[in-house]
Amino acid sequence: MKTDPLTGARGTVRPIHLRCEHLINPLGIDVRRPRLSWTLEWDSPELSPEGATSHSPGQASAPPWVIEKGTPARNGQHPQTSITSCHSTLGCAGAPRKNIRQSSYQIVVTHESGAVAWDSGKVDSDTSILVEYAGEPLASALRHHWKVRVWDETGAASDWSETATWTMGLLRPTDWNGCWAKGLVTPTDWTAKWIGLKTASPAQDDGGCPSPILRKDFAVRGSIKRAVIFVSALGLYELRMNGQRVGDHVLAPEWTDYRKRVQYQAIDVTQMLQEGENALSATLGSGWYAGRLGLSVWSSGGELRGFYGRHLRLIAQLDIELEDGQKQSVITDETWRCSADGPIRSADILDGEVYDARREMPGWDLPGFDDSAWQAASTSPGPRLFAQPNEPIRITRRLKPVAVSEPNPGVAVFDLGQNMVGWCRLNVRGREAGTDIRLRHAEALNPDGTLYRENLRQPPVGPLGAPQEDHYICKGGVDEVFEPHFTYHGFRYVEVTGLGYRPSLNDLEGCVLHSAAANTGKFECSSPLLNKIMTAIQWTQRGNLHGIPEDCPQRDERLGWTGDIQVFAQTAIFNMDMAAFFTKWLRDVRDAQADEGGFPDFAPHPFDCNTRANGNPGWGDAGVIVPWRAYVNYGDLRLLEENFHSGKRWIEFILLHNPSLIWRNFPGTEWVYGDWLNGDTFVGLPDWPQTGGEVPKDLYATAFFAYSTELIARSAEVLGHKSDGLRYTELARDIRAAFNREFVSSEGRVKGDTQAGYALALHFDLLPETLRPLAAQHMVRALNAYQGRLSTGIQSTVRMMLELSRYGYHEEAYALMTSRTIPSWGYMVEHGGTTIWERWDGWVEGRGFQNAGMNSFNHYAIGAVGEWMWKVIIGLNPDEHQPGWKHFIVRPVPGGGLTSARGTYHSIRGPVTVEWHLVDGTFQLDITVPCNSSATVYLPSDGSQPHAVGSGTHHFESPTA
Ligand code: BGC
Repeated sequence: MKTDPLTGARGTVRPIHLRCEHLINPLGIDVRRPRLSWTLEWDSPELSPEGATSHSPGQASAPPWVIEKGTPARNGQHPQTSITSCHSTLGCAGAPRKNIRQSSYQIVVTHESGAVAWDSGKVDSDTSILVEYAGEPLASALRHHWKVRVWDETGAASDWSETATWTMGLLRPTDWNGCWAKGLVTPTDWTAKWIGLKTASPAQDDGGCPSPILRKDFAVRGSIKRAVIFVSALGLYELRMNGQRVGDHVLAPEWTDYRKRVQYQAIDVTQMLQEGENALSATLGSGWYAGRLGLSVWSSGGELRGFYGRHLRLIAQLDIELEDGQKQSVITDETWRCSADGPIRSADILDGEVYDARREMPGWDLPGFDDSAWQAASTSPGPRLFAQPNEPIRITRRLKPVAVSEPNPGVAVFDLGQNMVGWCRLNVRGREAGTDIRLRHAEALNPDGTLYRENLRQPPVGPLGAPQEDHYICKGGVDEVFEPHFTYHGFRYVEVTGLGYRPSLNDLEGCVLHSAAANTGKFECSSPLLNKIMTAIQWTQRGNLHGIPEDCPQRDERLGWTGDIQVFAQTAIFNMDMAAFFTKWLRDVRDAQADEGGFPDFAPHPFDCNTRANGNPGWGDAGVIVPWRAYVNYGDLRLLEENFHSGKRWIEFILLHNPSLIWRNFPGTEWVYGDWLNGDTFVGLPDWPQTGGEVPKDLYATAFFAYSTELIARSAEVLGHKSDGLRYTELARDIRAAFNREFVSSEGRVKGDTQAGYALALHFDLLPETLRPLAAQHMVRALNAYQGRLSTGIQSTVRMMLELSRYGYHEEAYALMTSRTIPSWGYMVEHGGTTIWERWDGWVEGRGFQNAGMNSFNHYAIGAVGEWMWKVIIGLNPDEHQPGWKHFIVRPVPGGGLTSARGTYHSIRGPVTVEWHLVDGTFQLDITVPCNSSATVYLPSDGSQPHAVGSGTHHFESPTA
């Protein structure tokens, strides 16, 4: 306990929000040297915690952003001064004390028994994120407890943190052998097996495949201390123990390249098991493994289903520890029973699900069920298993419809008020057995109130499309509830037929499901339009995270397109904690890298990644740019290292085919997407120029080549790979020189004279310093040629916004941001968009929908402008040279008629808040810097004057610029 010198307030620093491998108390990690992180909070008992994100007892490990609190409106009653002033306040509720830094830490890790596995001792270091465990080797399936204490910059020690845990996964393939019970139980060949039906799921489109159900009874002989199940599937699984669902994750084990890796999940089932008889059961679904996938037309063999395999399989190992110290394991093997007669008659990610409730078998998931008519499980070999490194897909929200209409007799159309991704839960009131209730999903309505489903690309628009259609066949006589299991849909509207009565709003809810990474960003400003745009961006983000960052969630595509997340990565990071998610997905990217080094256009890549859809500029570059963004924001050197070698291979691949350093040869792909969906792709807009928007592809590609090479050079430097550092620094310099020779005039004109060309050249720092302001002027001229409207595509829009701001064209940038005319974000949200559209002209007043073959209303790429909103309106910028928010830059730029803005970003080092108001000709700024971090603040009135601040809450005032 210390006394603060300025206020006399006493307070201590405390480590909170403990994470292991970016996750809170993870279960089942297979990292042998896990990394531990914490944030520091100043705990001030004398100050009111109201409105603060401060720790409350018993919640030390909970992320502070789990509970989002409303932000109190500011009254703007700060003292007025005519000159820029700055002071740090200490009286703000729960605000950190000033300039708190960690000087040392101590971590203690214990085994379940209490024995110490690692005591770091007092380590003099300010590192508070990703400290590598350096204790005894860690064994499979064991749980560890850990705590940390720190010393601040004055040398005062904190209390110990609350204890957090992590549980190891099964580290070696041979650990799937009932390892807990080994030596205690007899069998010697005890290895969990991949089990399922003898029959394969269909390869072609002949009606989908019934979901196998599997079960096993077993006895537990003693009272249970702890039980953990490790489980995975080829396909999707839902597990039940004694009649209850195990875990809250859905669509597990999620999508990976199943030929190379399958993820498993670990779930604590201690509370679900009972002494004596138990039943473990599972239902399997086709999922990405055996079902239909987007763009299957690209498969060389003409298959429509089963790209990875057609035998659905389950693997599980239940490890039980008894109070008396005995251990027992239950594994999947031939003693399990299975049946194809369960209620899910077909389930597919794109098609939807058919559930026949008449086939339910009451008691099938309870001990003692008569399964003698079922078949014995078949077994087959399976791929290598890995622990899932990121947050699983979960249902995070349930939406109530805002309206229900009846466009045709007997047809109910629910409006959820929000374009969302997931499925519906429907109450059905007393219908006859066999009644077929159909749910069809769509993002938009036709003028007559019926569903607009053409953009799902079903015939005649495309060969199969994504029907996103569920059926529930009633068992009859009772009130029933339907919720699907192994599919998901992108929709705002749901058409329900077959009910035989007019449903009420309470009969349906929309279950929103996505990879459940925590929310990290809360953005608010005085413009309702911009708030709406940010909300739409955030909905689009959560709508497209399903183990992979997908392009869209509705039509038959839903692929992890690399180019989209490449440009959206920084926005994604502001909005959600993407550290663990990117760790997972970047493995998929590496798994799909072509032998020659071409990164894929999408990952996982279910087709032949060596012969198609690889090596695309701006897309493949995600393999370099996304790890770099993750490094900058999370300081994760291990992730950077994991992706370094593959990144080098990418650069060498481009170089091999383009020794002149101008990227013109694209051997891995038949289609260079370029600055996708730029202004030249608009249809039927009067007075819109037909050409002039698209940046020349060689220029575009070479710009990415230079940038990725530069990032590899910088990565080499921070990773300590000296000779690589030299090689790629030189190469990047040479590519820039070639770029300038080939594409840039001595007056700073860039070939093609497009907005996009200037944006890319400036954003990637390709031009000599002297030409940059000139090129920025040309960019503005190119903008004016379009009457100040965007002609940019997905790769250059946010980059142009950022460069307009960097070169002082604030008015132009704000005009674009606040525009309500097409093409603009404002146009989308003012015309029904609750998520970001794929195309600027997805729907146009008077013209209607764009080409249904490619017209998603839930595509985040254009939403990458979220990065600009965070960096320019709020003014929060990570510092690429001091990663992990060790230091950051605050440079808010008011404009566009905004009078205030407030953003909180929960960085890996703790919450950062920026809030500004324009009050009577002054710009008033309050910022909160987390402990163990610092910032440099630039005010609008004296743009180049840095103000250095340490942790704490700081207030600035200056005349408005
Ligand atoms: C996807 C995009 C993707 C693109 C490649 C589209 O069909 O939806 O988001 O990046 O193809 O150009």
